[in-house]
Amino acid sequence: MSPLVCFGRHRFFLHWNRRLFFVLIFVIAILNVILFLFIFTYTSAKLVTLEDMSKHLVPARTNLELQYNKKIKLCDLMPTFVNSFMPYPNLTVSGSYLKLLQSKLNIELGGVWQPSECISQHHVAIIVPYRDRLSHLQIFIAYMHPFLQLQKLSYQIFIIEQSDKRPFNRGKLFNVGFTEAEKLSDFPCYIFHDVDLIPQNLYNVYGCTQLPRHMSSYIDVFDYKLPYDVIFGGAVAILKDQFLCANGFSNNFFGWGGEDDDFYNRVTRNGTRICRYEYSVSKYIMLSHKKEKPSEDRYFFLQTGGDRFKVDGLNSLKYSVLQIDKRPLYTRILVDL
Ligand code: BGC
Ligand code: MN
Repeated sequence: MSPLVCFGRHRFFLHWNRRLFFVLIFVIAILNVILFLFIFTYTSAKLVTLEDMSKHLVPARTNLELQYNKKIKLCDLMPTFVNSFMPYPNLTVSGSYLKLLQSKLNIELGGVWQPSECISQHHVAIIVPYRDRLSHLQIFIAYMHPFLQLQKLSYQIFIIEQSDKRPFNRGKLFNVGFTEAEKLSDFPCYIFHDVDLIPQNLYNVYGCTQLPRHMSSYIDVFDYKLPYDVIFGGAVAILKDQFLCANGFSNNFFGWGGEDDDFYNRVTRNGTRICRYEYSVSKYIMLSHKKEKPSEDRYFFLQTGGDRFKVDGLNSLKYSVLQIDKRPLYTRILVDL
């Protein structure tokens, strides 16, 4: 074998080894992209466009049965609006204005309402945890009733007020609201809502979608941007069965922060995805307040949440109701946690 041939072969193999090497790198890169896309698609929130929204909304079965018996027409699952963008909320709501609203809007004692001209396809409990924010409560109530009525919903507003002086426990108050609302009516759909959030678009229908929905995605104080991809705080809509399956919220998050992230983990633990309505629909205003001091043990509870979700939640909930008040525009439940 002449050295020249040997050299040539060597170059030939080197050439092929190099080619193989690049092909391998290329294949690995492609596989990575596919894996990334797969993980991204199945772990991130599903964005629901305006056109698709009515396909995603779940009608309340009991209301459909009611319609069958009464032979009254059903309201639209998703009504249409000529102008769906709401005017800015009235920030100076007086007691007399609220009284006027109550008689004008035909709201039943306890903040209960349903349309009279058709049977709503939604039956929703709106649960609002509360302490010491009277002006927000008044603005919220005055804004939400007309908003929900334009959407032709059957609904009830619950204000769950923490009476004790321990740090505020948003998650536990939601659990109390759910448990108490269940005693009053068979709500298939729950909305867990902060008192300082005001929805801006009427197409943001306050009913439940097949997937648990993060409603308050784009808030003015966050420049109408999602602070992070899996944020699940503010306002959330979830079917009763999905809430039961998650064992509700954790009862352990006293103080600001983390309970909503823990709730996200609970809801998505079995592979369930959450969804969001498109940008223009899920815009919110946050009423101004000073920033709460974040709780220090929230990271601990968040990290260890996975071990506890079966024993910490609706099935371990302990509280004492001090008063249930059917007020003209909402049901107020005063509770000691
Ligand atoms: C907290 C959440 C909160 C979010 C947005 C997070 O760091 O854990 O509870 O909703 O920030 O403010
Ligand atoms: Mn706030």
